[in-house]
Amino acid sequence: MNKLPSIKAVVAGTGAYLPEKVLSNFDLEKMLDTSDTWIRTRTGIQERRIAAKDECSSTMAAEAAKMALECANTEAQDIDLIIVATSTPDVIFPSTACFVQKEIGAGKAAAYDVSAVCSGFIYAMSIAEQYIKSGRYKNILIIGSEVNSRILDWTDRTTCILFGDGAGAAVLKGVEAERECGVLSSHIYSDGNQSHIISVPGGIGKTSVTHEAIDEKQYCIKMVGNTTFKMAVKKMVEVAKEALEFNGLSPEDIDWMVPHQANKRIIDSVAERLDFPEEKTFINIHKYGNTSGAAIPIALHEANSSGKMKAGDLVLITGLGAGLTWGAVVIRW
Ligand code: UT7
Repeated sequence: MNKLPSIKAVVAGTGAYLPEKVLSNFDLEKMLDTSDTWIRTRTGIQERRIAAKDECSSTMAAEAAKMALECANTEAQDIDLIIVATSTPDVIFPSTACFVQKEIGAGKAAAYDVSAVCSGFIYAMSIAEQYIKSGRYKNILIIGSEVNSRILDWTDRTTCILFGDGAGAAVLKGVEAERECGVLSSHIYSDGNQSHIISVPGGIGKTSVTHEAIDEKQYCIKMVGNTTFKMAVKKMVEVAKEALEFNGLSPEDIDWMVPHQANKRIIDSVAERLDFPEEKTFINIHKYGNTSGAAIPIALHEANSSGKMKAGDLVLITGLGAGLTWGAVVIRW
């Protein structure tokens, strides 16, 4: 029996933007009681990028978006929907996605942000997959963009050494095809009971901006590092296994794993527990640190544009972030 064509959500192009300014571990040594050796051995990070004064999530997102559109050979005016995954929006409202829409000239697109922190891009991809597979939209631009440097306590060595700024983007297109291609499945989860282990506790919507909260640095990232570490390994492995099983795949079938880049030791533990080889695990944390929602799309873009990831490759994405939120996606590239 002939299989009828159905709509697949195919990744048609990727892009990324990294600010020019590099902040190395050696620079941090001059600012804090830390060392290059500690940071490198505990996290795998060597340097990270820091946004310039006139840059923010929307400006970086727009640059990444323009690159993804060019790569996908798609005009901005043909985009139906823009989703920006960010936990560092330019302002509380309007959404960062609306600023991006204006900047790139995507006049007919609906635009909104999703807030799922380091899992944000996985959430955005999952949403885009549903809209495309249902036939509602044809061209969707998804972006992860973060200016973490603006919400860090630069005197807290347990958090400020970890994060960096940047943006990554992808264009998803609806394509009628009989063969299996594009996003095969996405799996997303949350656990609000764990919201306290990594958060920005200052509640502008809850209490307004207060002098006390500023003095206590409540508008900065606070994290219980080792608990977050353990949860990251556990949940990323769990959801990656679920995604593989759902598609009848085993780790040997996967050409590239693109994990969230929070800590090289987390990535190594996830790969080890999945029995997944290091040479097929994409890692760029040494260059950028943890760019939260931007980490996965930046990694996807680097794997794609460097020619490492090729058409037809099976790609497994997995990540965890504040919320807690976590998820996985399997893509036939
Ligand atoms: O994006 C998703 C969310 N984020 C994550 O998934 C990150 C998860 N957590 C981590 O990556 C790790 O827990 C950290 C890198 C944050 C910390 O590594 P750790 O191996 O869990 O170290 P620790 O917190 O247990 O601290 C070990 C020691 C402590 O000293 P004492 O108490 O043993 O004397 C810390 O004070 O390391 C000390 N320390 C540092 N020393 C030098 C903590 N930060 C630093 C630092 N430089 N930057």
